[in-house]
Amino acid sequence: MRTRPLPMSVPARAGLIALALLTLSALAVADDAVVVRVGPLAVEADWHARAQAWFTAPDEKARKQQMRLAGRALKQPCKHCHTKAFDGFTEALDISRQMMALSAEHGVACGECHTGKVTYTERGVVAGAMWRVSQEQGVFCEHCHIPHKRFEALTPKGEAFKPEWIRRRDALIKAATTPAAPASAPASAPASAP
Ligand code: HEC
Ligand code: HEC
Ligand code: HEC
Repeated sequence: MRTRPLPMSVPARAGLIALALLTLSALAVADDAVVVRVGPLAVEADWHARAQAWFTAPDEKARKQQMRLAGRALKQPCKHCHTKAFDGFTEALDISRQMMALSAEHGVACGECHTGKVTYTERGVVAGAMWRVSQEQGVFCEHCHIPHKRFEALTPKGEAFKPEWIRRRDALIKAATTPAAPASAPASAPASAP
């Protein structure tokens, strides 16, 4: 029997297209990527004062309006961060203060990095990698980024880190967007712990 070169079947072609799309999305970081969160950075600072600087107006009404926009960027209600009676905060307080600080200090709005509860823009994903770098070094963003330049101008420390960033970028982005494999149980766990 003679094999005839058949025109590619529709399902096979669809498969190839899907593969091509998959390859493309692996090359570029897509918006709406999920960032594996590290949590608040262990950096000593007056985070309350730095968070307060995010508010652009002193009156309560304007502040609430500004908060509403922040909540909208994260698609979260007030009670994600505030207690119901507005007399305290949830566990999101520490990271929210650091977020308000970096947003105010570098001139980048919440919605430029966040697209929802756990999803991020491309810039947000890079920031997720940067969050890990900051954690490693025990520093905050201004260590490497000149304030009010939207992360586009580096300090001398930032310039010095650039070659390492270029070398580690892919691995850091991967770590920031791929959930860590669950720690496997030790092979020979004792039946009963002492
Ligand atoms: C430059 C990008 C960037 C900006 C601007 C930004 N965020 Fe974030 N945000 C991140 C990244 C990255 C994380 C994940 C950090 C981590 O690894 O824990 C995060 C995490 C958070 C979390 C914790 C989410 C959770 O469920 O654990 C909250 C809350 C948050 N951001 C609020 C805000 C608010 C409010 C603003 C604006 C005032 C803001 N962010 C601005 C990048 C950003
Ligand atoms: C992502 C977390 C988050 C969300 C969502 C959020 N807030 Fe806040 N809010 C904060 C943090 C953090 C502060 C300031 C903490 C500090 O001053 O140290 C704050 C401060 C405030 C303040 C006090 C401003 C001042 O004068 O000190 C008001 C009022 C407020 N929020 C109202 C709201 C309202 C209303 C909503 C819902 C529309 C809301 N917030 C949603 C985190 C949040
Ligand atoms: C140890 C130094 C270092 C620290 C700390 C650091 N960054 Fe960066 N960041 C860099 C370098 C280097 C680049 C790449 C700049 C370039 O390519 O020219 C960069 C790039 C970025 C970019 C992309 C800028 C662009 O123009 O696209 C963002 C966003 C960013 N950083 C956010 C942050 C945030 C948010 C923090 C704090 C949580 C932070 N960085 C902390 C060194 C640092």
